[in-house]
Amino acid sequence: MAALQTRALSKSYGSRLAVDRLDLEVERAELFGFLGPNGAGKTTTIRMALGLIAPTNGSVEILGLDVRRHRSEVLPRVGALVESPALYGYLSGRDNLRVIGSQLGRVSEKRIDEVLEIVGLKGRDRDRVRTYSMGMKQRLGLGIALLNNPELLILDEPANGLDPAGIVEMRDLLRNLAAEGKTVFISSHVLSEVQQICTRVAIINHGRLVRLAPVAELLQDGGEFEVKVDQPDELVAALKRQQWGGEARSEDGLVITAAPDGRGRSLIKFLVDNGFTPDAVSARHRDLEEIFLTLTEDPVK
Ligand SMILES: Nc1ncnc2c1ncn2[C@@H]1O[C@H](COP(=O)(O)OP(=O)(O)O)[C@@H](O)[C@H]1O
Ligand SMILES: [Mg+2]
Repeated sequence: MAALQTRALSKSYGSRLAVDRLDLEVERAELFGFLGPNGAGKTTTIRMALGLIAPTNGSVEILGLDVRRHRSEVLPRVGALVESPALYGYLSGRDNLRVIGSQLGRVSEKRIDEVLEIVGLKGRDRDRVRTYSMGMKQRLGLGIALLNNPELLILDEPANGLDPAGIVEMRDLLRNLAAEGKTVFISSHVLSEVQQICTRVAIINHGRLVRLAPVAELLQDGGEFEVKVDQPDELVAALKRQQWGGEARSEDGLVITAAPDGRGRSLIKFLVDNGFTPDAVSARHRDLEEIFLTLTEDPVK
């Protein structure tokens, strides 16, 4: 059973389709990245997933239950941080957790201590929230999401407003939570924030799913290879005569090229068949940022 599943999920505002037939499946205990440029439809999707707004079409299941039909069963099992958390600035961090805890119904002082510990606010929990840095507020927001010890965490741009040190802290925190078996769904428009922690990512643009894949696969595919041979110039010339080899070039003595069907073994076979016995052939890693830009750039009309 998936932790989160959307089926043909759509939302339109007037004539604008903010989310367009989105199919997502997030497995349990997965750290899943939900990526897209600003305006792509991330927050709208998350709001629908949490039952805060109604879809125009399609459905969302959380932990196997339809969110709209089983709201009261589902929501206590989910923790969420959507955009900036609403905090009481004149109250301490601990009192914020108490107030929100009482709204959730029975959250023990022991749980509040645990949460303060997890989000690293133990020493500052009696200080008023208005004296907190952006990063501390964001961590308190995460603390609120953790109060009911949820199985699924849905975090909308949790790194927003954090400085580089805060981003590292947030990353470690999310990794620990996933290691404990929680499912973490995190949205971002900044790839580098999720590249290092997420196992799989979905990339959306204009409300549509562009790609859903393991990060490692994204880094590989459509990629090029580096070939070390004794005769780089001859090889480049031979590659350029192939339909798939038009982009072949030599850089620092290495030949950079695509492969016949995208696979390294096909390239090696081509090399050997054509008398270029390679010393080494390796997949060239593209920057995830580059892939993201390629996938989200608007097609030339
Ligand atoms: N309440 C709303 N009314 C009208 N349009 C909206 C509303 N909320 C979002 N949109 C539009 O839907 C699209 C997706 O927005 P959003 O989900 O906030 O994107 P993201 O979170 O990826 O930046 C945008 O074009 C945005 O302007
Ligand atoms: Mg958003």
